[in-house]
Amino acid sequence: MTFLSVQALSKRYGKVSALDDVSIEVPAGSRTAIVGPSGSGKTTLLRLIAGFEVPDSGRLALDGDLLAEGRAGVPAHRRSIGIVAQDGALFPHLTVADNIGFGLERKAPDRDQRILALMDMVELARTMRERRPHQLSGGQQQRVALARALARQPKLMLLDEPFSALDAGLREGIRASVAELLQAEGVTAMLVTHDQAEALSFADQVAILRDGKLLQVGPPRELYMSPRDPGTAAFLGDAIILSANVSGGWADCALGRIAAPTACDGVAKVMLRPEQVTLSPVSSDGLEHRLANGSRYGRIVRIDFGGASSSIAVSLLDERGDHEGPLLIKTTHVDLPPVGSHVQIKVLGQAHVFK
Ligand SMILES: Nc1ncnc2c1ncn2[C@@H]1O[C@H](COP(=O)(O)OP(=O)(O)OP(=O)(O)O)[C@@H](O)[C@H]1O
Ligand SMILES: [Mg+2]
Repeated sequence: MTFLSVQALSKRYGKVSALDDVSIEVPAGSRTAIVGPSGSGKTTLLRLIAGFEVPDSGRLALDGDLLAEGRAGVPAHRRSIGIVAQDGALFPHLTVADNIGFGLERKAPDRDQRILALMDMVELARTMRERRPHQLSGGQQQRVALARALARQPKLMLLDEPFSALDAGLREGIRASVAELLQAEGVTAMLVTHDQAEALSFADQVAILRDGKLLQVGPPRELYMSPRDPGTAAFLGDAIILSANVSGGWADCALGRIAAPTACDGVAKVMLRPEQVTLSPVSSDGLEHRLANGSRYGRIVRIDFGGASSSIAVSLLDERGDHEGPLLIKTTHVDLPPVGSHVQIKVLGQAHVFK
């Protein structure tokens, strides 16, 4: 069931079209991630939904109630929407505890307990409760902002890069506990992020914005494996894009014959994600003979060691010798063959065909 309905929403700032005819349906209790380059309209979209900005045209409805129609709308404080702004936007003169408790009833008997529980949830040490925002690091300020937004138990939570100032370990932990809490309380959420892995793992649906327009929206797996065009593919991770001849469920390309969906025959660009390609070391003896058999081989020309995942540049070999331009492949192998050695290349799964 649709909880938040965004219909044909547009907003201009002078000559800049910050948001252009964007429509998204957000189901109740779901999590939506918004990704896109800087300046693509992500913050504008959240601010329009929260009621901090007035749309030029379009319609917004939450849980069946109309929030905005064109320039007329319900004021921000009556929307039951929590927002964690990109810059945190804490009250500088209030302590951590008073920032978090801002929306809570002053005289509520469990007020202090609630504040402490929220601090625990975002992993802020309780000893920080009397500090003021300027005495906190950027990541700590973000967590106070998150706790403040959660305190009011909104129906819809808007998160504008709330984890951007946290280091990788803390970020993953807090993201998981926020996702769990939102789920437990049945809060619907929209998250803006620049982190592709975060978008894919946090969300039930991902929306990609560019130049104020919605390029594609769908479940994370679908967007990752079947992006609309090569530009969209690159937003969600590394992609290997190759020219191919597609026919009867097969794509013939520089990596050989790869399974492909049927009914998209013709010359086309195809995409593989790097984790679909495996490399296994081989001896260079008799490679010409094996190449003639249709197996694909390459020579490692560069290795960028990256810890958990390394990037390997492989120059393809075919019957005529080196293929033009190396292929970049991500691998989680720790035992990397040395530069200059030969590898056999295998492809797992299907290629995605751009229509
Ligand atoms: N108050 C404003 N006045 C004028 N232009 C604005 C205003 N707010 C946003 N813009 C412009 O609208 C466009 C979209 O901005 P927005 O803040 O929504 O981008 P964003 O996707 O959140 O980017 P980032 O990833 O950098 O946060 C940009 O070109 C921006 O300069
Ligand atoms: Mg922004």
